[in-house]
Amino acid sequence: MFEKKLFRSDMLKCVLCQDAPCSSSCGKLDPAGLLRSIWFDNEKTAASKFPTVNPCLSCSAPCETACVRPHEVPIRELMTRLHNEVKPELELPLPEEESRLHTDLCGVPLDNPFLLSSSVVASTYDMCERAFEAGWAGLAFKTICSFDIHEASPRFSAITGDNGSIIGFKNIEQLSDHSVAENMEIFRRLKKKYPGKFILGSIMGQNDAEWEELSRLCEENGADAIELNFSCPNMVDGGLGSDIGQVPELVERFTAAARRGTRLPILAKLTPNAATMSPAAEAARRGGANGISAINTIKSIIGVNPHTYVSSPAVHGMSAVGGYSGSAVKPIALRFIAELGQNPALQGMHFSAMGGVENWSDALEFILLGAGSVQVTTAVMQYGYRIIDDLKAGLNYYLAVKGFSSVKEATGLALDSVSETTDVLERDTVVFPKFSREKCIGCGRCEISCADGGHQAIRLNEGRRPILDGKKCVGCHLCVLICPERAISSSRKRISRA
Ligand SMILES: Cc1cc2nc3c(=O)[nH]c(=O)nc-3n(C[C@H](O)[C@H](O)[C@H](O)COP(=O)(O)O)c2cc1C
Repeated sequence: MFEKKLFRSDMLKCVLCQDAPCSSSCGKLDPAGLLRSIWFDNEKTAASKFPTVNPCLSCSAPCETACVRPHEVPIRELMTRLHNEVKPELELPLPEEESRLHTDLCGVPLDNPFLLSSSVVASTYDMCERAFEAGWAGLAFKTICSFDIHEASPRFSAITGDNGSIIGFKNIEQLSDHSVAENMEIFRRLKKKYPGKFILGSIMGQNDAEWEELSRLCEENGADAIELNFSCPNMVDGGLGSDIGQVPELVERFTAAARRGTRLPILAKLTPNAATMSPAAEAARRGGANGISAINTIKSIIGVNPHTYVSSPAVHGMSAVGGYSGSAVKPIALRFIAELGQNPALQGMHFSAMGGVENWSDALEFILLGAGSVQVTTAVMQYGYRIIDDLKAGLNYYLAVKGFSSVKEATGLALDSVSETTDVLERDTVVFPKFSREKCIGCGRCEISCADGGHQAIRLNEGRRPILDGKKCVGCHLCVLICPERAISSSRKRISRA
């Protein structure tokens, strides 16, 4: 189940256009939407939208001519593979019913578990309106504060991968540069027009009185819950953001201050810039928080220029440590969510997870580790609010296939298998790699990696196909991971070397 048939690498030239010409030139399908679904790990629901007879069969592929990179993306072939290879293996037809996505955040209903996280993506009325219309269940509004915000330019930098996709994203942005009054007006307008959408009022105070006042104002103006920003690492003044999140006594004190201002659910947004998150999370609970949001961005430096000697983003010849987000941080975020989910002292709290979520399977990983809701920024900055379609459809399809009637049934299912330490692992069995003769193209990358980064257990035969020396193989699976053709998998063959 859920074995991937198509990969991003099969459509690398596709740039996921806005108002894509491929779709406008096709009278039968929405190739742009289907390509996006492949990109966002959602090929099953894409294939389920196909008619029984493949409309691409008798077509001259005007989509490929209309493409902004004419004839560089094999659109017709990809559509045909969706029809021929993925559709026949679907476990279910496309489920129309989406009620299994309904959930709640501390008792407040959510249409689905997906929220925009506090950042530029949820910082004006117009943006929030478009996000709600697109299908997001709610949002954490850009952090509100009562001090002046004056941003630098440029303020972002990134490590990019295939097709310009962002692997890791660094920002040195601070908080909302609107006044508190302006932001409260936005809350009122949003709540009036979208009473069923969830507004998380993200706030940052400079002292007890400000934390109390801001949480009170958010409640009075329509917020459904409050998120306390103890985690931004980019503040101009010290003693704010992640400086607070690293000191449990301050987390407890300022949570208690916010609690005095509101009866709404409170989530403390915590920083990953700490060895463990539990001390701050437990302190937040003592202060009156009902949940934890995590992770905020990770302190980082990227792109040191070899000529100017300045890292990126360079602002008039200087740079600064800033927050890292996007795909690269997901493993770190998952680890923190698991830590929270396993902590008995935090039982019953809501965990709103984020860090590198781009598609439904990223989100599912967080849910399986105990997250009750999932927030997103960097992927929306790259691809837009439209990613909600594949987030919802992919998760809904997964839940339907698994027979889960709600997101909650899947929440935390992976927690018991994670250990914070490696001492619990069985160490006497070796799981051999298995080589697919059909998929192998004889590049020899497995031989190189095994020779120089492994245990010299692979050699190529005269036909350039790998031969495994079972006596030397330790079953590390480096070869499985580096094979460019995905021709190596995990074998059923195991031996015990006890
Ligand atoms: C440009 C930018 C601005 C952000 N601003 C805020 C903010 O004002 N308040 C906040 O709590 N988090 C802020 N964040 C952190 C995000 O909400 C989120 O915690 C983090 O980026 C990880 O999620 P992601 O990988 O989906 O982006 C910001 C992130 C970015 C990239």
